[in-house]
Formats: sequence, structure tokens, C-alpha cells
Amino acid sequence: MVRKFFVGGNWKMNGGKALNNEIIQTLVNGPLDDGTEVVVSVPSIYLSEVRRQLPEKIGVSAQNAYKVSKGAFTGEISPAMLKDIGINWVLLGHSERRNVFGETDELIADKVGHALDEGLKVIACIGELLDEREAGKTTDVVFRQTKAIAAKVKDWNQVVLAYEPVWAIGTGKTASPAQAQEVHLQLREWLKTNVSPAVAESTRIIYGGSVTGGNAKELAQEKDVDGFLVGGASLKPEFVQIVNAKV
Ligand code: 13P
Repeated sequence: MVRKFFVGGNWKMNGGKALNNEIIQTLVNGPLDDGTEVVVSVPSIYLSEVRRQLPEKIGVSAQNAYKVSKGAFTGEISPAMLKDIGINWVLLGHSERRNVFGETDELIADKVGHALDEGLKVIACIGELLDEREAGKTTDVVFRQTKAIAAKVKDWNQVVLAYEPVWAIGTGKTASPAQAQEVHLQLREWLKTNVSPAVAESTRIIYGGSVTGGNAKELAQEKDVDGFLVGGASLKPEFVQIVNAKV
């Protein structure tokens, strides 16, 4: 089973009309390898506009969505609303949601379950903090996070799992290819044991944390690295090189 290479751009709380247009031009000009599935995660206020301007083959994702479809939840948006404006993806469980906004494994799992039930595809993020890695707890943490998410997933075809070690996010300190491969393999083994061998074989496990045009090719060589989730570099022309890392 071939896992299609997947590159997500996570703009986080960046962008604006002018920068969005530049990024859109970069993506339109490419050229982007057809062997890579590309999805950009855009601030919610710009989702409609970016969806309208990008070619259909490039996916557009929200960066968050709540666990119910509507109601008295001021400031939130729902999967139903995303579907309503033609958005098919949502990023959930990002470390900034977990660590800046205090989202728990349980809330993230509920959001994943609801988004999938509503027909969205999900990029589900997991990853350990530096002190957790240094304490030898990396697998404890990522298995715990994955277990909570897995409990709510019925169809793994709709899910991409993003391993993003928190110490590598926005720090310029990328995991080495060997470090990334080690955790990706452990996650695939976890899926094999706890979900099924078929799901382990087919699920894309992508790496995030200071991926650049300069290091993407080397990371992409690793057997269990099925793509990337890119923050800072997704705002720049080098995003094209990352999308084309397998070429
Ligand atoms: P950077 O690529 O800026 O390190 O961010 C990674 C990330 O958090 C993507 O979701």
C-alpha cells in the first residue's frame, strides 16, 4: 500500500490580505509535485477567500473547530460551518492549542470525533515537550495522546497523524531524521497493535517542527515519514521545495 506523501502548511495566526495573496501566488506558480497531497491551514477569517482563490487540488483546512455543531459557544466555529463554506479539513490537537490554550486529550478527542462525524478530514497533532523527552517519556506521551484520539476514530482514511515534538516547533531545532523515524515507527507499531495492521500500513504519519526547504529532502527519505506539517516555512516560497521533497 502506497501512502501518498502529504504536506500541510500551518499558517497559525499569520497572514493578511497581502501575505495571503503572495502565498497563493507561490502555490499557484509551484510547480507542485502531483505525488504530494497539499493542504494549507488558514486562519478562520480568511478560509472562504483562500478556498476561492486556490486550485481545487490544494486542500484548505481550519486550524480548530469545536466539538458540537452549534450553540452558545462564543468565539468558536463548528465543523458544520466549515462544511457550509466548502472546507473539508480541520487541524486538531496542535501543541499550541494544548499548551497555550489548555486543551486536554479529552477535549481534542471529542473534537476529532465530532469533526469526523460531520464529514471533515482531520490532521490530528501529537508531540512531547522537551522535559518529557529528556525524562524518557516521549512514547508515554505520544501513545497517550494517540490513544485518546484513536478512541474516536472509525475511519482512519480520514485522518492524518502529525507528530510534532514541541521542542522542535518554531525553534529552528529540527528533529534529526533518525529521531523522527524512531517515533514514527513507534507510532506505526502502536497503530498496528491497538487499531489494526491495515490501518498502521495506510495511515500517513507526518512530521512537524522547523521543517525547511533545506532539511525536508533528508527527512523525507525516512521510511515512516509520510510528509510534513510546516509552520514558518509555509509562509515562504520555500514551501514549494518542501512539497517537492520526494522529487
Ligand atoms: P514550525 O515549522 O514553524 O516549527 O512550526 C511547526 C508547526 O507547529 C506546524 O504545525
